[in-house]
Amino acid sequence: MKKLYDVVVIGELNVDLILNQVDKFPSIGKEVLASHMTLTLGSSSAIFASNLSTLGSKVTFVGNLGHDNFGDHIIASLKSRGVDTENINRSVKQNTGATIVLNFDEDRAMVTYPGAMKYLSIQDVSDEVLKHSRHLHLSSIFLQTGIIQDVVQLYKKAKEVGLTTSLDPQWDPAEKWNLNLKELLPYVDIFMPNLTELTSLTNAVDLKSAIDKLKSFANKIVVKNGSNGAYLWENNELIHQTSFLNKEVVDSIGAGDSFDSGFIHQFLNGKSNKECLEFGALTGAINTTRSGGTNAFENLSLVKMIAKSSFNYTF
Ligand SMILES: Nc1ncnc2c1ncn2[C@@H]1O[C@H](COP(=O)(O)OP(=O)(O)OP(=O)(O)O)[C@@H](O)[C@H]1O
Ligand SMILES: [Mg+2]
Repeated sequence: MKKLYDVVVIGELNVDLILNQVDKFPSIGKEVLASHMTLTLGSSSAIFASNLSTLGSKVTFVGNLGHDNFGDHIIASLKSRGVDTENINRSVKQNTGATIVLNFDEDRAMVTYPGAMKYLSIQDVSDEVLKHSRHLHLSSIFLQTGIIQDVVQLYKKAKEVGLTTSLDPQWDPAEKWNLNLKELLPYVDIFMPNLTELTSLTNAVDLKSAIDKLKSFANKIVVKNGSNGAYLWENNELIHQTSFLNKEVVDSIGAGDSFDSGFIHQFLNGKSNKECLEFGALTGAINTTRSGGTNAFENLSLVKMIAKSSFNYTF
C-alpha cells in the first residue's frame, strides 16, 4: 500500500520567544536589555517536522495545542512548510506552551511553560495515522509526561504495524533520566541523543562506555556533538562524521533537530549510514547560519543555496 506520509512525528509543540544579544544574564530584582526579539515556531519536534518537510519528506504531526494565538501561529507555521496538521488536537482547557530563550552566542538559557503538550497521550496516536506512515519519530520524551509511561508500548506497536522508528530523547529538565532503555531501544531503529544526553541516560563517563552499556539491545545509535561533529554506532562499528565548518554561527537553536531531519530524510531514501550522517551534519550546520531552528529551511532552494555558498556542498 502506498503510504500517505513518510513520517509521523509525535511530539511537543510550543512557540519560542527568542531574545538575542542580551547584555548579561539577569539576576533577581534587576533588568537587562536584549537588542533583538523573534517569535518563532519552537519545540524540537516541530523544528524537526518542518525542516524534514522542506527537505521533501511527507510529514504529519500528532500533538496538542491550546485554542489561542500561539496555537494558531504554530498551525500556520507548520502548514506554511507543508506539514500536515490534521492530527493535531486543539484543547479548550489548556494554553499552548512557550519557551523564553535567552541567547548568548552559541549557548542559551531557556524557561519552558509546557502547557497543552503535557496532555498528549498514546490514545491520541490513532491506528490510522500509524497505518498511513512509513516512519515514526518522537522527540523530547521528558517533556511529554502524558506519553513517557507508554513509550515502550507506542514503539512496539509502531514496529508491529511495520514502521521504522527513531527517537531523539533531548534533555531531561528534571535531570533524573528515568527511561528504561533496555526495554525501549529494541523497538527504536535509530536512537539520536547528543553526547551529554547519552552519558546522562546511561550514567557513563564517555561515549565508549555509554555505547558498551547499550550495545546488547540497541540498533543504530547516532550521537551529536555540536561543532565536534557526530558519531554513528551499529553492529560494533563506530563511524565519526566531522562537522561542516561554519565561521559565522548565528545561533545553534535547533541544530540537533535539523541534523535529525537530514539524517532521517536520507534514511528514508535508502541511503547508507555514512551518507545519512554526512547529510545530517550538513543540515545541522545549515541550521546555524540563520537565527532559530527553521529560518534556514524556508524552502528547498534556500537550503541548497546555503549548502553551496557556505559549505561548498551540492545536492
Ligand atoms: N557550530 C556548528 N558548526 C557546524 N555544525 C554544527 C554546529 N553546531 C552543530 N552542528 C551540527 O549539528 C549537529 C547537531 O548539533 P548539536 O550537537 O548541537 O545537537 P543537540 O545538542 O542535539 O542540539 P539541540 O539543542 O538542537 O537539540 C552536530 O552534530 C553538527 O553536525
Ligand atoms: Mg538535541
